[in-house]
Amino acid sequence: MVVGIVAVDRNLAIGKGGKLPWHYSADMKFFKEMTIGNAVVMGRRTWLTLKKPLPDRQNIVLSRDQNLANESLIVMSDVESVLDFARQQEGHLFVMGGAKVYESFLPHIQRWIVTEVPLAVEGADTFMPSNFLDGFDLYELRQLDEGLRVKFYERKLQNRER
Ligand SMILES: NC(=O)c1ccc[n+]([C@@H]2O[C@H](COP(=O)([O-])OP(=O)(O)OC[C@H]3O[C@@H](n4cnc5c(N)ncnc54)[C@H](OP(=O)(O)O)[C@@H]3O)[C@@H](O)[C@H]2O)c1
Repeated sequence: MVVGIVAVDRNLAIGKGGKLPWHYSADMKFFKEMTIGNAVVMGRRTWLTLKKPLPDRQNIVLSRDQNLANESLIVMSDVESVLDFARQQEGHLFVMGGAKVYESFLPHIQRWIVTEVPLAVEGADTFMPSNFLDGFDLYELRQLDEGLRVKFYERKLQNRER
């Protein structure tokens, strides 16, 4: 299954100046719990915000620059290659951003896991598209520490890819 995982503020902001505009350890822990043992795909700019590949997950970076690859990282240059690769793996493919990558995978995402951050970040420069949850139904709500709420969404049956 292809699952989008994102944290948004009240205005659907996700980034500022190339970074996450907040630090919530409850969300970091939750992200780890959800993704561990699976594959994660991220854009080149998001990769640059990590110091090293996320442990115990197959890290895939989407970029046209193949020079980024190393022994613990796969670099792929298009969405179809990532989907083909993920189909051959056990476990899920988690789409972990940023905005460009969420947009690129949007038609293929079957579930969204959305952490709602109780902030309205001033000067944010990266946002989710306002319609990213169109065609999805909420099926679970979870409260995390630090005032965070997570919503789980599933694509409506009639909108699923065959
Ligand atoms: N709040 C959250 O949950 C969350 C999660 C992740 C990231 N973020 C934030 O989002 C921001 C980064 O987002 P962004 O949109 O600027 O960058 P991004 O999506 O992380 O990376 C963009 C790059 O990925 C590659 N790429 C994206 N789509 C592609 C496609 N279809 N085919 C081939 N390559 C593709 C391109 O790399 P090349 O130019 O090398 O070809 C593109 O320049 C940062 O502020 C980050 O902190 C927030």
